Amino acid sequence: MARIFSGIQPTGDKHIGNYLGAIRHWVAGQTEHDCLYSIVDLHSITVPVEPAALREATLSLATLLFAAGLDPAKSTLFAQSHVSEHMELAWYLNCTATMGELRRMTQFKDKSGGQESVSVGLFDYPVLQAADVLLYQAGLVPVGEDQRQHLELMRDIAIRFNGRYGDTFVVPQAQIPPTGARIVDLQEPTKKMSTTGGTEQGTLLLLDSPARLRKKVMSAVTDSDGVVRADPENKPGITGLLSLLSAIEDVPIASLEERYDGKGYGDFKRDVAEAVVALVEPLQARHAELSSDPGEVVRLLKIGADHARSLAVPTVELVRERIGFAPRG
Ligand code: TRP
Repeated sequence: MARIFSGIQPTGDKHIGNYLGAIRHWVAGQTEHDCLYSIVDLHSITVPVEPAALREATLSLATLLFAAGLDPAKSTLFAQSHVSEHMELAWYLNCTATMGELRRMTQFKDKSGGQESVSVGLFDYPVLQAADVLLYQAGLVPVGEDQRQHLELMRDIAIRFNGRYGDTFVVPQAQIPPTGARIVDLQEPTKKMSTTGGTEQGTLLLLDSPARLRKKVMSAVTDSDGVVRADPENKPGITGLLSLLSAIEDVPIASLEERYDGKGYGDFKRDVAEAVVALVEPLQARHAELSSDPGEVVRLLKIGADHARSLAVPTVELVRERIGFAPRG
């Protein structure tokens, strides 16, 4: 069974794009693979974040992920900061990665551009990410297209370490979804749906009320052509809604075009709205149930951290020996 590792940042409310692009695949993967999923709170402190907000965001994302179907009996979900071996391995890998490699990372250039002060941690973010995966000897890493460069660096670091010290790490592979699966902002459909870069009205939050979700879908921007047909250039709004429905129902866009042949935008949008609501309602119900007992989520996260740690410790022990640290006795 292949081992999978992926991470998600706790900050920012999660939306239907996160669900369709990542979370539901995490849930589906549980039955076929040995999966480790981490709420990467150590990555979140690379930019300023209020302590209370970080704590709240971490627990609330854990609640959401358990509500979405991650099951401690099938996979491992844990908070990255609960397994301190991530930081230890990151140091060893810091001495393998080079400044030049990190300087080339486009995400660092984007995130640091225009900032008055940039933490060393933000620069080093991809090395911690490499440690996340190499720590568990994971072979597959499901991520979005935006993480391709970080995954290449991770592989380079693993290969270099293995070359210098002897075979130590599994060299992981990225698993990137096809680009057709892009979920876009409903108000600015040329942009990816996002709580940081998109519009509030155009972002379908997983915990928005059904009424709010319906309203957001019904007010999505379209065009005056009146035909439900994908055309990213001239009809980005309708194309975005088609991609959304296609992702939810898991049917090709072409068959949706056929279904809505001769029908108006009103009918089409109503169906999209109902599909969105039907998708999130069970998740919201489980979320409400879990939220009524906050101790439960802490307990579930501990199960995950204990298991993750049991896998991480042997890796760092091997790494210490390979590097040449004297035995502790
Ligand atoms: N950087 C990833 C993102 O922003 C999150 C992440 C952290 C991650 N560590 C990881 C993803 C390890 C995959 C594997 O999406």
